[in-house]
Amino acid sequence: MNSKRQAMRLLAMSLSFTAVWSRAADATPALPEVSALPVRAALPDPLVTDDGQKITASTQWPARREQIKQILEHYAIGHAPPPPGNVTGHERAAQIMVDGKVTGRLVHLTFGPESKLGFDVVILIPSETATLKAPFPTIVQPTFTHVLGTNALTTNAWEKAASQFAEPLRRGYAVVAFYYQQCGLDQPDFRQSGFFPAYPGYDWGDLAAWAWAMSRCVDYLQTQPFADQAKIIAVGHSRLGKAALVAGAFDERFALTAPAGSGCGGTGAYRFNGQGRGGKEGLEDAAKRFPQWFGPRLPAFAGQVEKLPFDQHWFLALVAPRLFIAADGLSDPAANDNALIQAYLAAKPVYALLGAPTHLGINFRPGGHQLAPADWQAILDFSDQHLRQLGVNRQFDQLPSAAELH
Ligand code: GCU
Repeated sequence: MNSKRQAMRLLAMSLSFTAVWSRAADATPALPEVSALPVRAALPDPLVTDDGQKITASTQWPARREQIKQILEHYAIGHAPPPPGNVTGHERAAQIMVDGKVTGRLVHLTFGPESKLGFDVVILIPSETATLKAPFPTIVQPTFTHVLGTNALTTNAWEKAASQFAEPLRRGYAVVAFYYQQCGLDQPDFRQSGFFPAYPGYDWGDLAAWAWAMSRCVDYLQTQPFADQAKIIAVGHSRLGKAALVAGAFDERFALTAPAGSGCGGTGAYRFNGQGRGGKEGLEDAAKRFPQWFGPRLPAFAGQVEKLPFDQHWFLALVAPRLFIAADGLSDPAANDNALIQAYLAAKPVYALLGAPTHLGINFRPGGHQLAPADWQAILDFSDQHLRQLGVNRQFDQLPSAAELH
């Protein structure tokens, strides 16, 4: 390219950067600088507006919900681009497995500017039986590895993938799983990777990008007859539980949001985790070790979390009146259980106001940092109880005793 053309290209790029940037920035009303925010020792009430008005009727909630979304984008996770609207899927491979009980498909989704973005998803669909009929409730889950591995697509690789999701498949749930780092690398120079270069000017971090990828899976599911559109479920563990929380909070097509072991930056209220606030990982630790997860303003709250104008229970509140369950281990070294309990309690009034008090669930099991079989059982039981209305007799409001909290 000659230098004049190159200069023109750079100019065009910088103009489009400015245009995109101002679009993203215009969407947010002027919000105070972090230094100008007041100290709030208690968890900020999601039912009190910025100008101090108490929300007392469900009709007032949609406007407040929009305000909450803007505050969370601004201070916590950054601004994601709008839905691209052009998601298409190309099937790369398919396999029948588990003695004919499961069909697997490897699909490459493409979308975005000039359809240049994309990632692979593995779709596992249970076969119909006398009692389980399509369309199936469908789980969307980012995963820590490629569930089919990175080598040749052997029968064994498919069987292994299905075995990871044996419980949901057995119970008649379809699964869409994708390796999260296709969408944005989980490292501080993440902005050169995944979706980020295609959207200059948007200040989203990795959690928002991984969540946005979950929404692209839903775009595709909307074209797929196997999926029950009213029963789409966001699941994720740990940092991917944090992403599932963002996805379910911002995308109302998720009927159930189920983060597990998501801890700090997930379901744990910042005011109740970290050194001096109850222990385990806190905002200071997460923002320092994993700055890529957040929007650019969150690290400024290190050492002054009581200045946060929000706390993580606001994400739980955004899910209301849809279904939410947090599944956690009682001795998870990565997640402070009391911080989750505080977020759960502080989100309750929103579910009550919207007439859905039982749609907010919590479940603790013994054990540590993993997406354990007992977590799957809790999530699927909660889903069977509410989404499928199968008459599951189980409570999801049981809090551990003080002695059980580690
Ligand atoms: C680290 C991190 C946690 C995160 C976890 C994980 O432990 O501190 O915030 O949830 O990794 O993703 O496994």
